[in-house]
Amino acid sequence: MSEIDVVILAAGKGSRMKDNLPKPLHKVAGLQMLEWVCRAVRKIEPKNIIAVQAPNEDFSSYADETVVQNEQLGSANALQTAFSKVQAEKIIVINADMPLMTDQSLMDLVDTGEGFDAAVLATTLKTPFGYGRIIPIGDREVVEQIVEEKDATVEQRTIKLVNSGVYLFKTDYIKRAIEAVKTDNAQNEYYLTDALAGAKIVQARDWRDLLGVNTQQQLAAVNKIARKRINNQLMTNGVTMVDPATTYIDANVVIGTGTIIKPGTVIEHDSVIGADNEIGPYAHLREKTVTGIDVHIGNFVETKNARIGDHTHIGHLTYVGDAEVGQAVNIGAGTIFVNYDGKNKHMTQVGDRAFIGSNSKLVAPVTIAAEAITAAGSTITDDVPKHTLAIARQRQTNKADFWKRMPHEDFALNYDKKNQ
Ligand code: UD1
Ligand code: CA
Repeated sequence: MSEIDVVILAAGKGSRMKDNLPKPLHKVAGLQMLEWVCRAVRKIEPKNIIAVQAPNEDFSSYADETVVQNEQLGSANALQTAFSKVQAEKIIVINADMPLMTDQSLMDLVDTGEGFDAAVLATTLKTPFGYGRIIPIGDREVVEQIVEEKDATVEQRTIKLVNSGVYLFKTDYIKRAIEAVKTDNAQNEYYLTDALAGAKIVQARDWRDLLGVNTQQQLAAVNKIARKRINNQLMTNGVTMVDPATTYIDANVVIGTGTIIKPGTVIEHDSVIGADNEIGPYAHLREKTVTGIDVHIGNFVETKNARIGDHTHIGHLTYVGDAEVGQAVNIGAGTIFVNYDGKNKHMTQVGDRAFIGSNSKLVAPVTIAAEAITAAGSTITDDVPKHTLAIARQRQTNKADFWKRMPHEDFALNYDKKNQ
């Protein structure tokens, strides 16, 4: 395979999103769209990945190199901006707003496009609205013209063969061909698609790979597909999902076999869940949650930056943030790891087989040793040594005959009267 540079077009205004976040930084299953695109292209081992960005953006942490497109004059102009950095004989050009792109589809483009000056990844969509429509030359798999939605006639809009916005070019060819692109169209832009006459049409193996995001609705739709792909892969690996449709797992999450994920569960990026866990329903495992084997995390439990040892149970209504929890620990309902003092986050350590009573507050930094116990309702601010019971709450006082001193409007008394 000859050397390929990749140019990611990421300088567009993203005005159809109607918000202020640069479009490529919108997240899909926990990762920025730009990161998804970079991951897919990196797998085909290009020489250099060059991102074209708008003047006030900085995508240098994603791509190998960046260039600034000063004015958003269209996709052809964006690519021209990148030419100064292109060295390889061939270029793949890809829009930054297609997070579902895969290395398989990119490889198909490279393989089928071999020998052509230009090739375009295409598919047929039931609802092609918004995409450039491809008009082939007769029945050949070659582009005669690509017509943008806004420039298309009513008849052309019925065409379902669409341009994905991913192209393979011989560098010398596209440098020349792009010179002829003009702005005589509905948007007064330099369309890269106007340089595609004669390009080889490469049908993608999975239409989903090609979906672009221009609107919030499309962002939600690709999120759904990305999550479905992630869940399918996890189930293939032996994870049980009671209801995949309500199970929200980010791209970078690892889950061991035999683990059961119950509905309404969210597991965020860089979490590693061990084998034979039971998670949920309605658990929220945030970034850097790491669990051992046979861990139970029940309903309305939130974890973050927490290592949780084998056989530990955290059953109900609990927040575990910035913590190291040992093995076979029991954490009672309503326990809060108090990790934040308004400025800094602090760590809590809980040793093996410790028993944390319900409604305990563990005020970090604090260490509960192995086999230590906290009494229910305690606010623990000092370390608890091994085998020790810590009680940190008011002692109970019982006031005899207090009932008679209760106000007459007492709800229970009224209730009794009404029912007499
Ligand atoms: C583009 C294609 C369309 C295709 C669709 C696939 C053109 C003219 N049209 O349309 O045929 O079906 O993608 O999703 O290319 N960009 C810049 N600088 C600019 C303008 C755009 O960097 O001046 C970037 C954007 O950030 C984006 C990409 O180019 O990543 C495409 O721009 P966008 O406005 O999203 O084009 P579409 O209307 O989706
Ligand atoms: Ca787009």
